[in-house]
Order: sequence, then C-alpha cells, then structure tokens
Amino acid sequence: MPAWTPSSWKTKTALQQPQYDEPAELEAVVRELSERPPLVTSWEVERLKSQLSLASCGGAFLLQGGDCNESFQACRADPIEKKLKVLLQMSLVLVFGMNKPVIRVGRIAGQYAKPRSSNTEKRDGVTLPSYRGDCVNRIPFTAKDRRNRPELLLEAYGRSAQTLNYLRALAEGGFADIHHPENWELDCVSQAARSQEYHQIVRGIGDSLRFIDTIGGVTRADLSRVDFYTSHEALLLPYEQALTRQAISGNGWYNLGTHYPWIGDRTRDLDGAHVEYFRGIENPIGVKVGPTASPAELTELIEVLNPNRQLGRMTLICRFGSGKIQTCLPPLIDAVQKSGHPVLWSVDPMHGNTMTTDNGIKTRHFDQILSEVRDSFAIHQQQGTIVGGIHLELTGNNVTECIGGAGGLQSADLARAYESNVDPRLNYEQAMEIAFLIAGQARESA
Ligand code: PEP
Ligand code: CO
Repeated sequence: MPAWTPSSWKTKTALQQPQYDEPAELEAVVRELSERPPLVTSWEVERLKSQLSLASCGGAFLLQGGDCNESFQACRADPIEKKLKVLLQMSLVLVFGMNKPVIRVGRIAGQYAKPRSSNTEKRDGVTLPSYRGDCVNRIPFTAKDRRNRPELLLEAYGRSAQTLNYLRALAEGGFADIHHPENWELDCVSQAARSQEYHQIVRGIGDSLRFIDTIGGVTRADLSRVDFYTSHEALLLPYEQALTRQAISGNGWYNLGTHYPWIGDRTRDLDGAHVEYFRGIENPIGVKVGPTASPAELTELIEVLNPNRQLGRMTLICRFGSGKIQTCLPPLIDAVQKSGHPVLWSVDPMHGNTMTTDNGIKTRHFDQILSEVRDSFAIHQQQGTIVGGIHLELTGNNVTECIGGAGGLQSADLARAYESNVDPRLNYEQAMEIAFLIAGQARESA
C-alpha cells in the first residue's frame, strides 16, 4: 500500500464533497483549523476502543444515538441536556436488563455534514446547491443561504467545542450521578408508556446503591460520573484532515475532532477517498453497511481498514431495512466469520426504514424499526455471533417524526411536532421502548 498521510485521501475520488466557489478560502480555513486545539485526546479514544473491544465479545453493549443532522441552533443547553437524559435513561434500562456495562456514544458535537442524493435541488425552475448540513450551507432555498461557505467549518468546530464542553461537565459529576437519576427526568416522562417500569428500575437501583454504600468497597466517586463519547460521520475530508493529529505520546495519527468517526453507506467505496483517510487513523471506526454491500466487498474493506485485526477497531453498523435484513445479513456474517476478523456488530434500524408519506413527509414506522432490531438479535443468535450495539436517531424532545410506538402516532400527527430537517428521529417514548425491547430480549436469552 502507498504511504498514508492525513491528506493522502486527495489522491482518490472523494464523493459527497461540497463544491466551493473559492478553493483558496477553503485552504485558509483548513490551515486555521489545523492550528486549533483538538476536541478530544488519544487517551480517551484508546479507552473507548478498549471498551468497544469488550462489546465485540459480548462483555459490554454500545448505545449510540442522537440527531440525524445536528444543527448549529441545537447548540443550546436544553437540547444537549435532553439528549444526554434520554441516553442515560436508556443506558440504565440496558445495564439493568443486560447485566453488562453500556458504552454511551452521542451522534453529537460534530454531526453537521450530510450526504445528499443530488448536488443540486430544483424548485419552480430554480436550481441551487443542495443543503449539505450546517457546516456547509443553510436550509432556506435562496442563493445566499445555499452558497457553500468554507467559514462554516470554523463555526462547526466552535459549536462542537461548546457542545462537548457542556457534555463533559454534565458527565463528570452531579448531573450524571447514579444516586440522583431524578436529574434525568424529562417533562414528558410521567405520561410515557414505560414510565412505571422505568421508575421501578430506578427504585431497584436505589436499593442496590444503598446496599453497596452499606457494605463498602465501591467509592461514591466511581458512581457519580459516566463516560460519554462523541461520534459523527466523517464526511467532509478537509475538516477531518485538519483535526487529524499525531498523538502526544508519538504513536500514530488520530482524528481528534471526535472519538468515534464513521464512514457512511454512500462513501465506503474500497478505492475511494474516505476509506483511504480512515485506514490511517487510530480511532475506533464505524462503517455503515447497507443492502448493496456484498460479502466479498465487505471483507476486503475490513482487511484494508483493520489489517492488524485490532480488537475494538471495527464496528459494522448494519442498516438494511426490515424487509431486507433476513436476506442481507446472514451472508455478511458468514463472510466476516470466515475471514476471522474481529468486528463489533451494531444495528442501525433507522436508515433502511425511511419512507415518504402521501403528503411528502419523510418518516419511519416504529414497527419496522422494532422488527429490524428483533431480527438482528435473532439472526446473530442463529449464527453464533453477537449484537454488540445499537445505533439510533433520537431526541429527548417530544417530537412526532416516526409513526407508531406506544403513543400510537399516525401519519396525521407528523405535522404536529416535526423538527428534524433531514431524517425522522425517535422521540423519548419510542427510544425507551427500544431500550426495553433489547433489555427484555437479553433477559429471555440469558
Ligand atoms: C446517517 O447516519 O444519518 C446516514 C446518512 O446513514 P447511512 O450512511 O447509513 O445512510
Ligand atoms: Co440519518
């Protein structure tokens, strides 16, 4: 293989990159970003990798979730707190049901760039660049808003830093203290379908904590904070390159703009720029795997991305759709098993189940999401492999973006509280239902 550098991806074809009017402006922004401090450290990244290696063997479970498309506007206390609250509540249910540690990862603090099916969008005879996320351009359909602006990458870095700063403070103590789960209550919890069950778990945990406090051994400090990691689709390669740094300890290159970058389903070509970039960084990485991935292509991809077969390095985030998982997943599991490569199998039941209603609203049906999760667990059990994680688009806001669930949302309800500007997310109640499903399945198969 030719030598890797943080910019060797430029020798390959990079899909899904915005075209900028002034390439010199982009270069100046990349230079400036390269001088800013990293957002995370290599020690944190390595700690996550070792936790993920446990998950790949069934000793932990990965819970990854957040917005499809984080917006600059969501860089405020309330949405950040709510997202953390849902993920903490879900992780409590999962820890309790699965009897294993849960690794919490947000699609957050950098999930600003979106792949699009077309470079341009046409409305009433006017053609403008497609909206590609807040780090590229703006949503309103005007020439000014849709202009791709390199300086938005600097703003994305700034918002990521502010978001991460608050997340770290919340995770470090007080808020995340397991002795005080009342801090994670959301306004909508009391009416939610699973509320009673959740509070029963909280009471059970309270009893266990009092027991632990009584017998001693675990210090209170151990239980008063949580690990929380960040992830995003590393789509815009100039940005990712600028945040790629050599570890202080001198061992290798890390993407220090996030702990856990992933490659999207549309940009995972073996010979493409994204795979070239990812092969050289030390982070644990995810690859989205959709219905078009062939067994041969997937094993070659894993070989390029993890030639040393490092445990915890590779996560396969499978997203086939409820109608396709039965035929798509088994041959891929067979091929990966045969290759002997260690991977963490995660299930993304969102991206294969997107549809458009008669009124043109993008949604997902909760039953299909549940069905893909169930099938994933069943198929892995049949094949003797392990589902080590789940990848969700969710929010702590009481949105109406996905149809179904205990709240019985219908397509007519979608208009009521539809906030996402790209993919529809699970609301609090729907997200908790998934956590209870997984916890229940784990108990059944234990
Ligand atoms: C996403 O995670 O928002 C996304 C675009 O996913 P995928 O690459 O799996 O389509
Ligand atoms: Co999405």
